[in-house]
Amino acid sequence: MKALLLSGGSGTRLRPLTHTSAKQLVPVANKPVLFYGLEAIAEAGVTEVGIVVGDTAEEIREAVGDGSAFGLDVTYIPQAAPLGLAHAVLIAREFLGDEDFVMYLGDNFVVGGITDLVDAFRTEQPDAQILLTKVPNPTAFGVAELDAAGRVVGLEEKPARPRSELALVGVYLFGPAIHEAVRAIEPSRRGELEITDAVQRLIDTGRDVRSTTVSGYWKDTGNVTDMLEVNRSVLETLERRIDGAVDAGSEIIGRVRIEAGAKVTGSRIVGPVVVGPETVIADSYVGPFTSIAGGCRIEDSEIEYSIMLRDSSMSGVRRVQASLIGRNVEVTPADRRPAAHRFVLGDHSRVRISS
Ligand code: G1P
Repeated sequence: MKALLLSGGSGTRLRPLTHTSAKQLVPVANKPVLFYGLEAIAEAGVTEVGIVVGDTAEEIREAVGDGSAFGLDVTYIPQAAPLGLAHAVLIAREFLGDEDFVMYLGDNFVVGGITDLVDAFRTEQPDAQILLTKVPNPTAFGVAELDAAGRVVGLEEKPARPRSELALVGVYLFGPAIHEAVRAIEPSRRGELEITDAVQRLIDTGRDVRSTTVSGYWKDTGNVTDMLEVNRSVLETLERRIDGAVDAGSEIIGRVRIEAGAKVTGSRIVGPVVVGPETVIADSYVGPFTSIAGGCRIEDSEIEYSIMLRDSSMSGVRRVQASLIGRNVEVTPADRRPAAHRFVLGDHSRVRISS
């Protein structure tokens, strides 16, 4: 069994963060989303991974390297343009050979990993195994229709009128029959070779397509609300570990991880919270479900249920909530007179002020 990890795409839904960084590298609990996928693949006992990369290839390579840090052997497969998930399978033909493989979308987040799924596929050997989950907005996904016995009878990509609430999760298991299917389909309305259409073709040609329904899933952590939710769910599993320096005037409550080199003085941190290396927290409050990356500075401020990316700072600000703060961002109060807001905001920024 091999793995095909898809890490192209432009991440328009996560702008402005994805102007400067691949969407798969946006951190959840201080770790890039993509790394959770790589770990899930390694945990399932798969070691040969092909990573399909696009415009952000360089950044992905820099972060993942040869895969040895994950116990994996990584091959990069460049995709010249984002022509669809089935197109990715098409160009990976040589890497995949005739082996079974798990295809994993690098911006998807599946709680609980994929080990059971991979094991079931190895034992049962169907032609395809898809994952489904109930979603409130099926029009944004591939949607599956099941018959009374729970067999997949039809699939549709981003339908205007969905036939069910069951969305296709971005983890698929395939046997070699998928190669004929991706060659046989035509581009969709959005001009892409859809994996949904290829799986439909497997069904139409009488192949064995099975489905499993899961919970605890986020699609491409595609917006801020989702990002904060997935961050919360990962922090739920955090274990307390204090490697950084905490002074006697600080109170650290519950499951808090403070990385080596971080410094906390005169502050109150209520977990679950993760604080990255070389970050300074002084005279501040950091509340539950917050991830502060490395190299940050929080001074005389209050923040909770938020994500702060590396090298950002906040001083004299209270209280920040449900916020996603990018890299190298500075948040400070404005001068008292005139009582005005002052902004330097990048393209696609969104700001909500409380005055
Ligand atoms: C793709 C698939 C879709 C699936 C989704 C999961 O959508 O085409 O069927 O439900 O991934 O993330 P896209 O990422 O192109 O919006």
